[in-house]
Amino acid sequence: MYNILKHAHSGLRWILLLALVAAIVTAFQAWKRNASYKKGPSLIALIVTHLQLLLGLVLYFISPLVNFNEGFMKDTITRFYTVEHLTIMIIAIALITIGYSRAKRKADDAAAGKAVFVFYLIGLLLILLGIPWPFRGLGAGWF
Ligand code: HEM
Repeated sequence: MYNILKHAHSGLRWILLLALVAAIVTAFQAWKRNASYKKGPSLIALIVTHLQLLLGLVLYFISPLVNFNEGFMKDTITRFYTVEHLTIMIIAIALITIGYSRAKRKADDAAAGKAVFVFYLIGLLLILLGIPWPFRGLGAGWF
């Protein structure tokens, strides 16, 4: 069960990154290129982001890498999964959610596109920063 969830969470990152890029590009076109704002791409990215949050929350309770034992802040990997990964990702997910709901309330396409572009881009940058890429030595793989 743990392994299935871990691999689902790890693999879903790629779909999430693609969905965010697609939402950001289409939002930019609505903002700067007079294209109509279509909520499809930003809604898909929002749904995948929340799915990743759900998987992450379950993992948080069952992963051996998360613990609050004495001195856990001194261990790089335990601190990363117990504190840093969770904090960065929750902020990113909150920003993406705010961006989507702001866009929904905007009357014109350019303003909606701008809201998604700005919030999703900051969210994407935070997510890139919060991912335990293999080269960071945190014991995680590419998939
Ligand atoms: C939404 C953006 C997120 C992305 C892109 C993401 C991505 C990842 C990746 C790539 C891994 C490494 C998996 C591996 O071992 O190969 C990981 C691990 C983990 N993530 Fe996330 N994550 C996100 C959000 C969250 C959230 C919000 C939580 C907690 C609430 C969370 C909890 C965890 C935990 C506990 C692990 C360690 C799993 C283990 O190896 O035991 N993640 N995450």
